Amino acid sequence: MCGIVGYVGKKDNCVRVLIDGLEKLEYRGYDSAGIAYFNGEKINIVKESGKLENLKNIVNFNDQSQIGIGHTRWATHGGAKKQNSHPHKIGKFTIVHNGIIENYANLKNDLIKKGYTFNSDTDTEVACALIDYLYENDKNIANVIKKANEIMIGSYAIGILCDDEPNNLYVIKNKSPLIIGVSEDEKFIASDVPAILDKTDNYISLDDGDYGVITKDNIKLYNSGKEKEFKIQKFEFDADLMDKKGYPHYMLKEIHEQPDVFKKTVNPYINNDFDGLMKKMPDFTKYSKVRIVACGSATHAALVGKQMLEEYGNVKTDVETASEFRYSKPFLNKDELVIVISQSGETADTLEALKLAKDNKNDTLGIINAKGSSIARCSNMVLYTEAGKEIAVATTKAYSAQVAMLSLIALNLSCKKNLISKEEMMDILKSVRNLPNQMQELLDKNDEYEQIAKKLAEHNDIFFIGRKVDYALAQEGSLKLKEISYTHSEAYAAGELKHGTISLIESGTPVIAIVTDDFIAPKTISNMIEVKSRGADVLYITNRNNDEDDKLYDNRIIIPRTHKLFQPLLTIIPLQKIAYEVAKIKGCNIDKPKNLAKSVTVE
Ligand code: F6R
Repeated sequence: MCGIVGYVGKKDNCVRVLIDGLEKLEYRGYDSAGIAYFNGEKINIVKESGKLENLKNIVNFNDQSQIGIGHTRWATHGGAKKQNSHPHKIGKFTIVHNGIIENYANLKNDLIKKGYTFNSDTDTEVACALIDYLYENDKNIANVIKKANEIMIGSYAIGILCDDEPNNLYVIKNKSPLIIGVSEDEKFIASDVPAILDKTDNYISLDDGDYGVITKDNIKLYNSGKEKEFKIQKFEFDADLMDKKGYPHYMLKEIHEQPDVFKKTVNPYINNDFDGLMKKMPDFTKYSKVRIVACGSATHAALVGKQMLEEYGNVKTDVETASEFRYSKPFLNKDELVIVISQSGETADTLEALKLAKDNKNDTLGIINAKGSSIARCSNMVLYTEAGKEIAVATTKAYSAQVAMLSLIALNLSCKKNLISKEEMMDILKSVRNLPNQMQELLDKNDEYEQIAKKLAEHNDIFFIGRKVDYALAQEGSLKLKEISYTHSEAYAAGELKHGTISLIESGTPVIAIVTDDFIAPKTISNMIEVKSRGADVLYITNRNNDEDDKLYDNRIIIPRTHKLFQPLLTIIPLQKIAYEVAKIKGCNIDKPKNLAKSVTVE
């Protein structure tokens, strides 16, 4: 993933601009950070392993500079060590890179034969050497970059400085995000708009294959050897979103934003009536099947959506992990709709899966949070979730907005196919109106979550069980716990335990049983009994009121009931809050868990 930033302008505070930009990009990786800037005499490189804080302690903010590049790293090639941190310099070139050069090993061998030596294990240093080598034979840097672009395979957004042209900032973009920020006296490059938003909200979004040169007065962009015209866009951003609003972590703030996100996502479609639902959504009735492709939590949202689309939309729905799907024979029917789901809209695997579906000539729908992102631009149809900017690496509000959107699609199908009665529609209207308050009620049960988290934090292995939609929720609950509290946990379809995993259940093993679907509840409850009788410590999360024997569980969280289409949006809240509390007790870095990054632009 990594984050890159660059500056060229008439002010002398380049070092400060780079560090400020990296601070906003740290969500993309935080294994090491570095900057390179021209100080009037030479290009000075400062880099350090670990968090940006370490770099801040050693840079000289008084150094005057009008041009430079910076990088925050999520390690791919080579460990999280100083020698692998960017910027890298070979010969006359200094570069920062986000992405993966897939053919770096072959290129490296060729360049070693040509006399180059390497100090790091990175693919970036190889790209730098390649550019330097090509420059030996052609002193026109734009030509050199065009050739490098033709030789390198993979994903890359690169910022380049050259000793011979210290006032020019060169860029290349292919399959990794890169924008150019524009103000009258200053130009910026960044992996993401928020990195430069306090400087300008005018930006140019680069396409794959674009490369060019930026000076303080001018921008020239090319694609395939031809100069290209570009459009300056305006980013609309609510600076309020960057404020933690008194919460100790962005994740907690974002969990608590869910009632509002629900309203913003659902109200355009269902308000006092269903007009929006019928008029603002494409016609999905023409598709005989649906395939949903996504990664991580977005896949878990898809698994909830599958239940809704099959039960309410009466359409067969399969869910596939994008990183697997993109390398499979897709076996897509001609009239199959492919839905891709992504918060960032930049996830490399999801984007490639989308391209595969488009190559196959299937209609594609993106359920996307980031407006104008690569996946949004590439999808035939887009429905935007209204979660707003999500800063914590672990998704919460964007996940629930994805689930809400899938429920809306299921309901749209149900209405258009005349599968739902007037009474049920009225019930849904009531449920939608009440849901934000019910979410708030659950969000406020802090003491309960803290008590349960205290117990769970003492264990290294935790099991989640559920059936159907509750199994999909169990998978998301387990992922939340793993990624932010580093506690090993597994989610199982409750009926599967007896086929192997139940051998792991012993006295005191924590099992979180999720039971919200009345149709299947008795079956899951039987599985709860099975683990309880083997000594498990059972946390029962349910919307069923007091009808179960209290010997079946050790702790219970009652969640309010709502219409089945929206029940998951309530059930997920205790799972998110418990994961958060466990991570807090264990002293983890909740907003930036180790080894992770917010936007996964590498495969
Ligand atoms: C987990 C998490 C990830 C993302 C996944 C897809 O909390 O955030 O699993 O859901 O990387 O990201 P997007 O939705 O940006 O495509």
